[in-house]
Amino acid sequence: MNILHELQSRFAAALADLTDNPEPFAAMVRPSQDGKFGDFQANCAMPMAKQNGVNPRELALKICERLNVSDLVEPPEVAGPGFINLQLKDDFLLAEVQRSFSDERLGVARVNTPKDIVLDFSSPNVAKPMHVGHLRSSVIGDALQRTLKFLGHRVISDNHTGDWGTQFGMIIYGYKNFVDSAAYEKDPVAELARLYRLVNSLSEYHSAVSGLPGLEERLKAAKSELLFNEGNADPADKKAKKALKKQRSEVQSLESKIEGQRAKIASVESDPELKALADAHPGIARSARDETARLHAGDPENLRLWKEFVPECVESLNRVYERLDVHFDKTLGESAYQPLLSDVVADLKAKGLAKESDGAICVFIPGNAAPFIVQKADGAFTYATTDLATVQFRVREFDANSMLYVVDARQSEHFKLLFETVRLWLGVEVELVHVSFGTVMGDDRKPFKTRSGDTVGLESLLDEAVSKAREIVASNDDSKTDEDGRPTPELDESTRDEISQIVGIGGIKYADLHHNRESDYVFDWDKMLAKTGDTATYMQYAYARIQGIFRRGEVDVEALRQHDTPILIEEPAERSLVLKLLRFEEALDAMASEYRPNILTQYLFELAGELTTFYDRCPVLKAEEERVRTSRLKLIDFAGRVIRQGLDLLGIQVCDRM
Ligand code: ARG
Repeated sequence: MNILHELQSRFAAALADLTDNPEPFAAMVRPSQDGKFGDFQANCAMPMAKQNGVNPRELALKICERLNVSDLVEPPEVAGPGFINLQLKDDFLLAEVQRSFSDERLGVARVNTPKDIVLDFSSPNVAKPMHVGHLRSSVIGDALQRTLKFLGHRVISDNHTGDWGTQFGMIIYGYKNFVDSAAYEKDPVAELARLYRLVNSLSEYHSAVSGLPGLEERLKAAKSELLFNEGNADPADKKAKKALKKQRSEVQSLESKIEGQRAKIASVESDPELKALADAHPGIARSARDETARLHAGDPENLRLWKEFVPECVESLNRVYERLDVHFDKTLGESAYQPLLSDVVADLKAKGLAKESDGAICVFIPGNAAPFIVQKADGAFTYATTDLATVQFRVREFDANSMLYVVDARQSEHFKLLFETVRLWLGVEVELVHVSFGTVMGDDRKPFKTRSGDTVGLESLLDEAVSKAREIVASNDDSKTDEDGRPTPELDESTRDEISQIVGIGGIKYADLHHNRESDYVFDWDKMLAKTGDTATYMQYAYARIQGIFRRGEVDVEALRQHDTPILIEEPAERSLVLKLLRFEEALDAMASEYRPNILTQYLFELAGELTTFYDRCPVLKAEEERVRTSRLKLIDFAGRVIRQGLDLLGIQVCDRM
């Protein structure tokens, strides 16, 4: 049961004859920050009273008279200017905890009205190695997939891979000109990745060489303008100060752009072999674009190469997904929609939504400066066209009434235009959400790169996480001692390996999930694998500690679960733990309605905190009375199951010993 929702709906009923629009006021029932104001608190009387010009305290008393909550809470108390404090009845808590303890779903109900959701996540561009940027979409998307499914929604997860984009032109050009056949034989994906990087760096080199003088001109002009303005600006003039600030940041951004371009040039020129290749292929960027165009036009040779490359690339992606334990119901790449694109454009035109502009076909959305380009002047369809076809397909084939896109925040403009266009075009009731996320940063607060400046490959990142976890697991085990201080390590090598996988991969996932997804975050190994703090490791230890108590007490857990001694609430720490456990559904509902995994990590972190307090105050194995011991064992078993289930919904595993 979602207790918060239950209270809110009781409030909505009570408020119905006091206001026309009770819902937003009912939503003002919240968990209390401080136990002395009860377990939950309603703050609706104040704003409602203001609206109606009445006394808030009196209104609060009126609300209480109308409230029908006596099965759940003690008589509500009105405090201060009109806060309504609600204390759950212990009888209610006891009945709920008993019911939830015996329930496989730990008391979590399925939603009443399941949605048909297509969840578009991970969706990397294939033929480029996966990097740390792909982690976020994969990990956040998977947590949503698991949680939404658990709550009873019908979810189709779809890995919308970029398997038809311009990277193929680059690879095809690279393959035709630079392939190392032996290397390709041995490891095609690695060789294709090398070719991609090579073609990319040569194209970037030429574009840097030709763009640099212009940039330098602009910098010179910006600097002299700044100098002039600095000399003339009135320090008291706020507007002028603001303008100066803007100019300074322009200068800075030009400087860093130039620095970047120079680095690209230097990286080629410092290597004579590369430089020779660059000189021999001056028009490489254009040629690569031509290869893409030929592929899209159905050129047999390019199509043959594409068909050879794609399965290899998908195979290598699957290796990463396997390690991450991330799975999809569908993998429908962009290429699957190609046959549909001309119809999409024709339909948009027929409905008067798309028209020609400078040779391109565009959808203009009222109130939006940028058009949504669905066909370029050269006839090529775009990312936008593919996404429109995809929406239509998902509505038709999957009856979807909700589509979630777990994609980098930098694509927010694209999704805004996509959603607006879909609303005008299809006129169907479908929830469209860009579940956007920020960037993973390095120590330098710039997008996370290796020391050589490459983006960090996902596979090597996972390897590193596991090897770091291995050290932590080993040193923790080696430091275990008996009462006389003699070492008592308990894990053999293969168990240590297994645990390291779980801790390492879990650590990376949790570190990502516990941030507000919209924020950028700094990738930090030490914080990620710390044994205390808001980490997977901490949660995994909390779980293992519970299993350790069962081992030490030689508790038969199956028998414990059948035991008829009820769970007792006699100590405040017990009550507090019970209440937290009963709020699991509330956390899942909130996470699923805002698509924010950090709501669940926050809940689990707080739960682990409650557990620590509980151990401090309430001996378990050493409890004096048998009934108390049994009750407390049941409580920690319940807590362990909530932690395991909660982590599982985040895609993180646990171990019985660590
Ligand atoms: N392949 C795209 C990229 O790597 C992301 C695709 C997201 N999904 C979508 N339907 N547009 O940027």
